[in-house]
Amino acid sequence: MNYRRSLSMLCVLSIGVLLSACSQQAIQIPNVSLSQVQLNKYEASCKVCHEQKASGAPQRGAYQDWQIVFGKPMDLIMTRVIDGYAGMPPLGQCFDCSESDLNDLVLYLAQSPNTQKHEAEK
Ligand code: HEC
Repeated sequence: MNYRRSLSMLCVLSIGVLLSACSQQAIQIPNVSLSQVQLNKYEASCKVCHEQKASGAPQRGAYQDWQIVFGKPMDLIMTRVIDGYAGMPPLGQCFDCSESDLNDLVLYLAQSPNTQKHEAEK
C-alpha cells in the first residue's frame, strides 16, 4: 500500500470515529420503574399536561423534547419542577410528592414508551 493510499484510508477511518463520537452525544436518561403509588400520582398530576400537547409541556416519551430538557443540569431541572417554571406549576401540582417521587416522575416522563410500556394503560 503506498503512502497516499494509506493516508486516505486513515481519513476514512477517522471520519468513522468522528461520526460515532457525534452519535454518542445523545443524552442517556436512566431507566426507572414507578411504584403503583407513584403511578397514581403521575396519573393525577403530571399526565394532565405531559400527555396533552396543547399544554406546551414536553410530552411523555417524546425523545427530542427530553433531550432538550436533559441538556440542562439535573439540579436546575429539579429546581424548576419544585418551584415551578413558566407553565409548569410548582411540584407539578403533586402536593404529596416527595422530592424522590418527583425525581422518579421526571425520569418516567423522559423515558421512551418504546422502552417501557406505559404501565397505567395496561
Ligand atoms: C398544569 C400543567 C402541568 C402539570 C400538571 C405538570 N407539568 Fe411539567 N411542565 C408543564 C409545562 C407547560 C412545562 C414547560 C415549561 C416551559 O418550558 O415553558 C413543563 C415542564 C416540565 C419539565 C421540564 C423542566 C425544564 O427544566 O425544562 C419537567 C421535568 C416537568 N415539567 C415535570 C413534571 C412532573 C414530574 C409533573 C408531575 C409531578 C409535572 N411536570 C406536572 C406543565 C405541567
